[in-house]
Amino acid sequence: MPDYDVLVLGEINVDLILSGGARPAFGQAEKVIDDAALTPGGSGVIFACGCARLGLRTAYCGVVGDDLFGRFMLDSLRQRGVDPSGVQVRADQKTGLSVILNDTQDGAYDRAILTHLGAINALRAEMVDRALLARTRHVHVTSYFLQHLLQPGLAELLAEAHRAGATVSMDTNWDPDEQWNHGLAEALAQTDVFLPNEQEALAIAARPELEQALDALAAQIPTVAVKRGADGALCRQGTKRLADPGFTVDVLDTTGAGDSFDAGFVYGYTQGWSLADTLALACACGALSTRAAGGTPAQATLDDAQQLIRQRRQVQFR
Ligand SMILES: Nc1ncnc2c1ncn2[C@@H]1O[C@H](COP(=O)(O)OP(=O)(O)OP(=O)(O)O)[C@@H](O)[C@H]1O
Ligand SMILES: [Mg+2]
Repeated sequence: MPDYDVLVLGEINVDLILSGGARPAFGQAEKVIDDAALTPGGSGVIFACGCARLGLRTAYCGVVGDDLFGRFMLDSLRQRGVDPSGVQVRADQKTGLSVILNDTQDGAYDRAILTHLGAINALRAEMVDRALLARTRHVHVTSYFLQHLLQPGLAELLAEAHRAGATVSMDTNWDPDEQWNHGLAEALAQTDVFLPNEQEALAIAARPELEQALDALAAQIPTVAVKRGADGALCRQGTKRLADPGFTVDVLDTTGAGDSFDAGFVYGYTQGWSLADTLALACACGALSTRAAGGTPAQATLDDAQQLIRQRRQVQFR
């Protein structure tokens, strides 16, 4: 009997979120802003925290530096119920950092992000604890295009996970180089559930229309769910097609909505739920995560998400 429901192979970084007038002025100028917060960041970390919040037994593999931010991330994972025993602390690396600058000008919200990769891309396939791999029901890979050193050995590692009886999901996120390659096809050949957003699906399938992209992806990958922001999501499983319109919520910050969606999807998938229920849970988890600033503070419990789904059904039947 596996000890973990999900093992995440992901990047780790802190997010320093500066808000309220956080538009820098150069020329040695000092500016006072309204708010600052240090929060756990990284797509994989937000996903893992979302899984733990839903009740999945979740473990993490990644790399941090031997520094204050690294210790903050290890503590944050533990506090949120994620087992960080697969995280390596490296004295020769700095923990990754993103500085997120939020500002509103002329009524329009905008954001700039400065990232120092540090140990974000330091995980290698051979560093993944095989004992953890053998003890999990499911493996989830995040930010494929940022995890440069993981790319070469990933397909074989995922094949190993399959041989040990686990299923595999992946959310590549955006490719900053916009090459959409780097051996991705080999890794996708070992993926059971693929979770891109609409732009990523079009770019990876190299198709101009979403339906064509879904056709191409579904021909290779057993389950594909494409995230569409406020418009919900589309899903394909072989010839089975499903759409979920998503949920209307008061949105404060969409950071990490895609990762919380992934957590909901992986919950339904690993619990053997129907595709429709899995997709609804994923959309509810994505929507609920937007209620607060940062990726993790407003993540849904299973009760929160099911309540939102019940409310939508009641509105439909009224
Ligand atoms: N404005 C919104 N209103 C309601 N639900 C939303 C909104 N934005 C996102 N969601 C929910 O979250 C899901 C995932 O969001 P999105 O499509 O932005 O993913 P993503 O682009 O992968 O995000 P990320 O920036 O986290 O990578 C959507 O499918 C939807 O269910
Ligand atoms: Mg995403």
